[in-house]
Amino acid sequence: MRVLVTGGAGFIGSHTADALLARGHQVRVLDSLEPPVHPDRKPPKYLDPRVEFVQGDVRNEKVLLESLRGCDAVYHLAAFQDYLPIFSRFFDVNVTSTALIYELIVREELPIKKVIVASSQAALGEGLYHDADGKPVLPDIRADEQLAAGEWGCRAPAGSRGPLTWQRTDESVANPQNQYGISKIAEEKVALHLGKRYGIPSVAMRYSIVQGPRQSFYNAYSGACRIFCLSFHQGQEPQIYEDGRQVRDFVNIHDVVDANLLALEDSRADYEMFNVGGDKAITVSEFAAAVAEVFGRKGYVPRPCGKYRFGDTRHICSDVNKLRRLGWSPKRSVYESVEAYRMWIGSADNIGEILAYCNKQMATLNVVREVKK
Ligand SMILES: NC(=O)c1ccc[n+]([C@@H]2O[C@H](COP(=O)([O-])OP(=O)(O)OC[C@H]3O[C@@H](n4cnc5c(N)ncnc54)[C@H](O)[C@@H]3O)[C@@H](O)[C@H]2O)c1
Repeated sequence: MRVLVTGGAGFIGSHTADALLARGHQVRVLDSLEPPVHPDRKPPKYLDPRVEFVQGDVRNEKVLLESLRGCDAVYHLAAFQDYLPIFSRFFDVNVTSTALIYELIVREELPIKKVIVASSQAALGEGLYHDADGKPVLPDIRADEQLAAGEWGCRAPAGSRGPLTWQRTDESVANPQNQYGISKIAEEKVALHLGKRYGIPSVAMRYSIVQGPRQSFYNAYSGACRIFCLSFHQGQEPQIYEDGRQVRDFVNIHDVVDANLLALEDSRADYEMFNVGGDKAITVSEFAAAVAEVFGRKGYVPRPCGKYRFGDTRHICSDVNKLRRLGWSPKRSVYESVEAYRMWIGSADNIGEILAYCNKQMATLNVVREVKK
């Protein structure tokens, strides 16, 4: 099979490309080498030389059509995912390009047998909670004034009684809290709807926070593993936002790749969306302590830094039973992910300024804010 991987020069795409090659497939990558992920706009050294590389934008009809021709399947992983307030670009890159893939397949009668799109846990947003009476609720975005006052919990919506308790969230829930999450829910709806309508088997993968080597050092969005590992690597205390008790689930890149392969190979996955998570709830402080341990800082006590990131979800943990029922399960621990990332940092050049650069960027964008109490 020849498989097109859009965004294949990135983190998840390049690992997926490696796994496809190992399975004997041919791989074509379409990637525009966007900064800040690719600061020098050159294909990364980790990209396997057997990959047929096309540098181009998924929004460019001509380039996309040429890339799709001759392929049997597509992983659509290219995306705009940042804290930049360029709201329209989230939809332009993530949603319009998805629609364009289907438009070209239908118009040109391309014999594509499967399209797999990268959705995100961000589509679940704040996820599912129960109120004090045990009633399921989907909380709304936390207001800035609440966060500035250091009140972290989600407030009960009208008609419900707090406090709210978080639950594992399955695929039936979509409660995105930011433009990225909204674009991802739209992307998966476009894919599943057009896929069904035109008989093009399609699958949407809602990845939780993915961890492992090749995750960009530069992307502000790329989360706790990058920030905490870089901090300990540079002998600094990591910044713990809010009170550190936010719940997350992290998933190892190789578990994600296993899920991606299953989506390609198993027809039971067709026209479905799946949570792809680590299935272990862990607080941000617990995760910081785990990173400290990997970096030889056992006994480190995480301390909140008195700041918060506006737009973050308070708690989210994906229910992965739907994918488990197809035989997949997350097998790698958080420690394995962090250790692999530690090795990756060790092999990188010129990372001295990155943490300071990213922190400055987040402050300039007013994403990271001070608690005012
Ligand atoms: N990494 C995570 O934790 C995570 C979690 C949930 C969902 N996802 C989704 O998984 C996918 C892959 O994420 P990743 O972590 O590998 O990101 P990444 O930034 O490492 O890779 C994305 C790649 O897409 C390319 N790209 C961006 N815009 C493009 C465009 N317009 N045309 C062509 N190429 C373009 C970039 O150059 C980059 O190489 C994305 O769709 C992302 O939204 C990732």
